[in-house]
Amino acid sequence: MSGYILAIDQGTTSSRAIVFDGKMRSVASGQKEFRQIFPQSGWVEHDPEEIWQTTLWAARTAIDNAKIAPSDISAIGITNQRETVVVWDRATGKPIHNAIVWQDRRTARMCEALKEKDLEKTFSEKTGLLLDPYFSGTKLSWLLSNVQGARERAERGELCFGTIDTFLLWRLTGGKSFLTDATNVSRTLIYNIRTNDWDNELLDLLDIPRAMLPEVRDCAADFGMAQKELLGAEIPILGIAGDQQAATIGQACFKPGMLKSTYGTGCFALLNIGGEMVLSKNRLLTTIAYRLDGQTTYALEGSIFIAGAAVQWLRDGLKIIKSAGETAALAASADPSQQVYLVPAFTGLGAPWWDPDARGSIHGLTRNSGPAEFARAALESVCYQTRDLADAMHKDWKVAERETVLRVDGGMVASDWTMQALADILDAPVDRPQILETTALGAAWLAGSRAGVWPDMKGFAESWALERTFKPEMDDKTREAKLKGWHEAVKRTLSGS
Ligand code: G3P
Repeated sequence: MSGYILAIDQGTTSSRAIVFDGKMRSVASGQKEFRQIFPQSGWVEHDPEEIWQTTLWAARTAIDNAKIAPSDISAIGITNQRETVVVWDRATGKPIHNAIVWQDRRTARMCEALKEKDLEKTFSEKTGLLLDPYFSGTKLSWLLSNVQGARERAERGELCFGTIDTFLLWRLTGGKSFLTDATNVSRTLIYNIRTNDWDNELLDLLDIPRAMLPEVRDCAADFGMAQKELLGAEIPILGIAGDQQAATIGQACFKPGMLKSTYGTGCFALLNIGGEMVLSKNRLLTTIAYRLDGQTTYALEGSIFIAGAAVQWLRDGLKIIKSAGETAALAASADPSQQVYLVPAFTGLGAPWWDPDARGSIHGLTRNSGPAEFARAALESVCYQTRDLADAMHKDWKVAERETVLRVDGGMVASDWTMQALADILDAPVDRPQILETTALGAAWLAGSRAGVWPDMKGFAESWALERTFKPEMDDKTREAKLKGWHEAVKRTLSGS
């Protein structure tokens, strides 16, 4: 049987690979976690060699588990944690430093200094982003300034910069392909998403030499061949997208007004806004949802840094649950008369607040508050934050006047209790699909459709299948009171308060 596609999903905490068959069903997978390195408070790094080794292991394992020959795989699609920066030596392929991860806050002061020079508008009008340490540009600039001789070597063309997709592609092709895709570059802070090119003014402001940048292609394109020595056959790499964009594709959010929200470590909501770039007036990001056949489709994005990580904190920090799966049942047993709010600003607050200096807080504790109230507060914090994003999106882009759906995916959405709470807080229906592996599926579709073995966009959109819709059941008065309490808690958490 042909039509097998290998999707590589290189995430923040683990590297995964999934083999899909010609009917777009997941048939086998491999997954390996790797170390999170915290050299200082607020700093987060990964060892690029571990990223590479775990990715290779996951890909080989998925192929083995699928019990197919590597040559049965028609194409590879890559999706990845976004914004994370790697710099390596063009001649040897060796990284010059650990990867600086998207969560890393070390460039907060650099961002402040740029803001003080009134440069935020310059960056946001061209990139759709804001001056926050989250994005790649300031991290890359930090590396060039702090690794001895790096900037001079980069100027001489001796170093390569890549987000994780580019680094993996380089390794998979044995250094033959130095490429990236339109979605990953849209997170770098140095790429102009209006003109679709690296931006000289922004490169100058961050002192980044153009000579170290990869060439940018559409999301479905010829990215080169994975080497036979690595995977057992030469396999074309035909798709690349950042993980949140791949999930948008995997959820078939191809029409303006379609919104997906992925609940992993963080939560990332992307609203398809079509072919015209709209800049947010409410501190959301504008980003490239996908670029296919040279046509760019944009999205408004709301990025929340802590979602599933709040549940991890209940497990590993507070130790009030043994596994994430217990959380919803515990939350359901909470005393309804108590209003406990957790604002999980563990690594600052993302959209729409963008406060890198805020830290987590808990409000409304009484002597009767216990593990159940903490569990409910953690799960509800994810719902409230999604509501804040949805409100900002409604203000920026008149979603209400158009057809709109919310499709959810990621680990947390398996919980019925959480999804019902989400629909209640949002006051809108929430659609949960049958296939929850949407990130990998999106990357696989890019590669499979390009290879001609999977359906086109229309056929793929028709194959999206609903598992369950959660409809709001909460009365307006209760919802308004809860939202008011949440906003008061956020206000008290912001760093300026
Ligand atoms: O922007 C960061 C995002 O791409 C990370 O996603 O799934 O690796 O936590 P994830």
